[in-house]
Amino acid sequence: MTTPQPQPGILDIAPYKGGESKIAGTEKVIKLSSNEGAFGPSPAAVKALEQAALNIHRYPDGHAPDLRAAIAGRYGLEPSRIVLGAGSDEIINMLCQAYVGPGDEVLYSEHGFLMYGISAMAAGATPVKAPETDLKADVDNLLAAVTDNTRLVFIANPNNPTGTFLTADELARLRDGLRDDILLIVDAAYAEYVTGTPTYTDGMDMVRGADNVVMTRTFSKMYGLGGARLGWAYMPEAVAAVLNRVRGPFNVSVPAQMAGLAAFNDTAFTDMCRAHNDEWLKRTQDALRQLGLFVPDGVGNFVLVRFKDVATAEAADEHLKSNGIIARRVAGYGLPDCLRITIGKADEMEAVIAALRDFMGADT
Ligand SMILES: Cc1ncc(COP(=O)(O)O)c(C=O)c1O
Repeated sequence: MTTPQPQPGILDIAPYKGGESKIAGTEKVIKLSSNEGAFGPSPAAVKALEQAALNIHRYPDGHAPDLRAAIAGRYGLEPSRIVLGAGSDEIINMLCQAYVGPGDEVLYSEHGFLMYGISAMAAGATPVKAPETDLKADVDNLLAAVTDNTRLVFIANPNNPTGTFLTADELARLRDGLRDDILLIVDAAYAEYVTGTPTYTDGMDMVRGADNVVMTRTFSKMYGLGGARLGWAYMPEAVAAVLNRVRGPFNVSVPAQMAGLAAFNDTAFTDMCRAHNDEWLKRTQDALRQLGLFVPDGVGNFVLVRFKDVATAEAADEHLKSNGIIARRVAGYGLPDCLRITIGKADEMEAVIAALRDFMGADT
């Protein structure tokens, strides 16, 4: 007897596993496993969600004119070149669905964000990874991996889980080395957190002047709306015209649109989040380096920590768990000897540092 079969390649996808949120036997956990904003949503966003509930029987306006206008206004963009998604994951998916199929290749860096490979395979395409150098995307290696079949190139800037980024010059060199028919997607999910780094770019300027560059952003990190599912992207008109054909007509819910607009406008809240991250990213990196651990120069809201081997990383994870702290194992990213730890509130980071100090056997 035959049973319904998915498209070739679908069953080869290793399903995405989100960060853990529970520790058996521990009621109050410190969840630092999914790079969610340390302070949750802005109170203004919560109020907007309450308002949204009153009209939840109405379909959303799928074009989300108010939110797109607000984003366009702040950054000086054309609203017609902005497309929203149910998280930036959906935009990554739509790009793969629309631009690749069997025989096509989707290129990204060795430790790049997992969804690029998953979305590529879901569209029947082949994921291709280019080696990194010192846990950072390498432009030469990416360009060397381009073939006649390459259609999309994804770069997370900064990347999850490494936190490292390509400079504006490096990104320009990558774009200049790609054929005009290859779409370069700069995934700037953590751009809101990058401060005091003049060489950094979120890719927005590059999109303005090119026909083959897209920048994606999310409301899941600093805006604290991961559960609402909201992301956006800035792209050439022609790409927007394509995505608006494959996009579900109501892909972004009324609560997501209303909470997103309120969160976007609450700049006092995001300023507070950014200042907190600035302080605790550096404090955490410094403290863990003092323990002799390797921590790359990340610029997002998380640190990647490398232990001396896989067993030590596993033991460190267990030790953190025994202290009620959930970090993220990143073996799925090819980094089994590392843990990724989101920057949480001050007391949470103090608990992380104390637990790792204890684990590493430091005296103070
Ligand atoms: C680099 C990167 N891109 C995209 C996403 C997806 O974010 P969302 O779909 O919640 O907008 C994440 C989430 O962790 C990420 O780390």
